[in-house]
Amino acid sequence: MCDVNENVSFPLFRLKHMKICCIGAGYVGGPTMAMIAKQCPDIPVHVVDLNQERIDAWNSDHLPIYEPGLDEVVKEARGRNLTFSTRVDDAIQEADIIFISVNTPTKTFGIGAGRAANLEFIEKCARQIAKNAKGHKIVVEKSTLPVRTAEAVKRILSSECSGATFDVLSNPEFLAEGTAIDDLLNPDRVLIGGESEDAIETLCSVYARWISREQILTTNLWSSELSKLTANAFLAQRVSSINAMSALCEETGADIDEVARAIGSDSRIGPKFLKASVGFGGSCFQKDILNLVYLCEHFGLREVANYWEQVVVMNDYQKRRFSEDIVKTMFNTVSDKKIGIWGFAFKKDTNDTRESAAIYICRDLLRERARLCIHDPRVPEKQIRQELLLACTDMSGHLTEKDRWLVENNISIANDCYEAADDAHAIAVLTEWDQFKALDFEKVHASMHRPSFLFDGRNLLDQAAMDAIGFEMHSIGKSSNRKNRPSS
Ligand code: NAD
Ligand code: UGA
Repeated sequence: MCDVNENVSFPLFRLKHMKICCIGAGYVGGPTMAMIAKQCPDIPVHVVDLNQERIDAWNSDHLPIYEPGLDEVVKEARGRNLTFSTRVDDAIQEADIIFISVNTPTKTFGIGAGRAANLEFIEKCARQIAKNAKGHKIVVEKSTLPVRTAEAVKRILSSECSGATFDVLSNPEFLAEGTAIDDLLNPDRVLIGGESEDAIETLCSVYARWISREQILTTNLWSSELSKLTANAFLAQRVSSINAMSALCEETGADIDEVARAIGSDSRIGPKFLKASVGFGGSCFQKDILNLVYLCEHFGLREVANYWEQVVVMNDYQKRRFSEDIVKTMFNTVSDKKIGIWGFAFKKDTNDTRESAAIYICRDLLRERARLCIHDPRVPEKQIRQELLLACTDMSGHLTEKDRWLVENNISIANDCYEAADDAHAIAVLTEWDQFKALDFEKVHASMHRPSFLFDGRNLLDQAAMDAIGFEMHSIGKSSNRKNRPSS
């Protein structure tokens, strides 16, 4: 292994001619770099990825991800100082600051399977940087990583004898999908962890083009890495907490929205992230908590690991509870009944379906032999079928013939909510798309069987209005229709 001069500081005067590259053109790399390019028109920003199809989409009029406001930001900067390509080696050689924004999914094999983060892609990036770098580079961890990953990154970077020198920073991303552009434009804070003051200042100076200095927090590397996992754990914990209370509301006559309003008015608790739901989804909450659990176990902190694991256990319970409630309410059988599914994305305003609660609810209903007709305004058919096949596949990669048959034959895709509801026994609202609130519900009701069950997994629709039309509506954390459920 060669020595790396980690103390070589990045000369601030080079800022004038600074170049940035980002490895990974996904939900984080794409929007984040587009925002930097928009706000810093003099800094060339090159986003690279191995996936040619994704890069082609970034260079087209049909961006690979749906995010309100993203098209405008990309159009403004692309061709000026924002480039997308698969030329990873070139981008590394040319850049002064290299962001690593690749995926860090849960491991599905070997030690830590189902819990630990798979760091294969991070390591490959670090090796590729080490191989191609010349001069001094600031390497920025943008991906969400286990605490102390920077230590491994530094060792890998120092393993090549290229003469290049490196500073490693941690700069986790806190954007949420669906609101990414606003989150990037007006972040609550930007977090930068590192050891070299010059490197930290260089990265600060990029964000300082549009974010006030008070909102740019600097910490040591490990606090920064751990703060990201902690933030996601706390956010997911709030959702699991309100969902846990929703089950109790249904048994007691309390109303979860009223409880959320009452507790959210306490300024110490605050009103955000208290919306009861069918369960949280998305690519990160579960992955990051499981990673935290794994880390705690690794350090022998069994009680801490158990504490956080309950957030995921509660989320699984909430998803299962919802599909079981549907079956119980519909006279204990949904076999050969059409159920209209409204929404498949993990939240509104995104086309992302990773870990969406809808996947698991649809899988459970399919296994009860329901016929599902799914509509989502942004998710294409191919993606829905792929997600369901994956959800039916066990850890060893085995998919039963029966499950495959069900996904192929008992799933249909509708162009709109009316088609999904037509001739159906029930509707399940699984994503809170705004447009679902503005439908002609008299028309929907008229096209359905009686009783016309409406399971609102997002508490999106007005209960009194739906009751008046004649739906038998079941919401999360409300006991109003419990009396109608047959005992099993
Ligand atoms: P993603 O899967 O959408 O994108 C990752 C991209 O990296 C893929 O396009 C993949 O092809 C590419 N890639 C992987 N290895 C590569 C390599 N060696 N060279 C070039 N490209 C490579 O993932 P994402 O949602 O953008 O998440 C990225 C990271 O950011 C994760 O660690 C995630 O936890 C974190 N994060 C995600 C969000 C979010 O909202 N999605 C928010 C904050 C943080
Ligand atoms: C989340 C965090 O909010 C971001 O700060 C973080 O950067 C990101 O994860 C990440 O690391 O990937 P995201 O998953 O995109 O962002 O979306 P959220 O708005 O957090 O929603 C996550 C899930 O929780 C969704 O399924 C949503 O429907 C659900 N949720 C959220 C609720 O059920 N109730 C709520 O009150 C809030």
